[in-house]
Amino acid sequence: MKIVITGGAGFLGRKLAARLTKQGFLWDRTGKKTGITGLVLADVAAVDPPIEGATAVVGDIADPHFMAGLIGEDVDTVFHLAAVVSGQAEAEFDVGMRVNLDATRALIERLRSLGTRPRLIFSSTLAVYGNTGGGISPSTPVTPLSSYGTQKAMNELLIGDMTRKGFIDGRSLRLPTVVIRPGKPNLAASSFASSILREPLSGERTACPVAKDLRVLIISPRRVIDAFVHTCELPAETFAGRGPVNLPGLSLTVGDMVEGLERAGGDSSLIEWTPDANIQRIVDTWPGTSDTRDAEDLGYLAETGIDDLIAAYLEDERRE
Ligand SMILES: NC(=O)c1ccc[n+]([C@@H]2O[C@H](COP(=O)([O-])OP(=O)(O)OC[C@H]3O[C@@H](n4cnc5c(N)ncnc54)[C@H](O)[C@@H]3O)[C@@H](O)[C@H]2O)c1
Repeated sequence: MKIVITGGAGFLGRKLAARLTKQGFLWDRTGKKTGITGLVLADVAAVDPPIEGATAVVGDIADPHFMAGLIGEDVDTVFHLAAVVSGQAEAEFDVGMRVNLDATRALIERLRSLGTRPRLIFSSTLAVYGNTGGGISPSTPVTPLSSYGTQKAMNELLIGDMTRKGFIDGRSLRLPTVVIRPGKPNLAASSFASSILREPLSGERTACPVAKDLRVLIISPRRVIDAFVHTCELPAETFAGRGPVNLPGLSLTVGDMVEGLERAGGDSSLIEWTPDANIQRIVDTWPGTSDTRDAEDLGYLAETGIDDLIAAYLEDERRE
């Protein structure tokens, strides 16, 4: 089985690649465990350090020549993770449209042209929801309030329709904010959710732009990677006509996260509380709770708590 991960040099792309190379197999579209014969990581950035067992190719997925070379007839499954994140898609509208929407459409068309009904796993986001009054369920209307969320929602619809037509086997997952992201803060409005844990755990100062009583939905990288892999274990019929899956997350206030930090031995006095009205306004539109019983019924695992999430981060980042 040949697999492509777009955005393979990114946070989740690298973790997924590491998991797949270690595992060595995936379920094919008939549900049979099949050995992975090729794993290609496509990204504008280099995969650094390289991942043993995976081939990195550097290029822009919005470039038709790159796309044509990337997706050949032998590709069975694509995990489509390449995207520009929320802050950048908002600040640079045309870049967001080109990468998040146009390139995704080109990818779907390329997969369709193969005539083999390849599988496409798409990483969408809870940013497709806006002003939900705090809580969501699978029947909550999609009302994005950002360009990023709008682009992701349009992709979900396209993937759903192309799947309905039998052109591809598309499966969309909506991810809550993934915490703890290693490295430096990024351009996402949600960046604080990782920073308030990551920096104090390393003895560094950080600023928190939102109030302690803000309720957020977060998920660990381990659970996201479990979900990507589990999605391949499910039969195609599970996704045909059902729409995207909202992955289970942890519903916590920022204050709950800080208490978890303290229990893990982090020094919460390193967090400087510097309210930013712009960020608070954006995050206030995000859902803080999510009814995901349907996802759990499909076998998607729920989180066990903030203490386990922090412990897993410390274990994974010390090992990597
Ligand atoms: N991390 C989160 O909290 C979160 C939450 C919801 C959804 N998602 C989605 O999950 C996916 C992966 O997220 P991540 O946190 O790993 O992001 P990331 O920014 O770490 O990785 C995205 C990768 O895409 C690459 N990329 C951007 N434009 C490209 C282009 N034109 N051609 C090729 N590669 C390009 C980037 O270089 C980067 O390596 C994204 O689609 C994101 O929207 C992430």
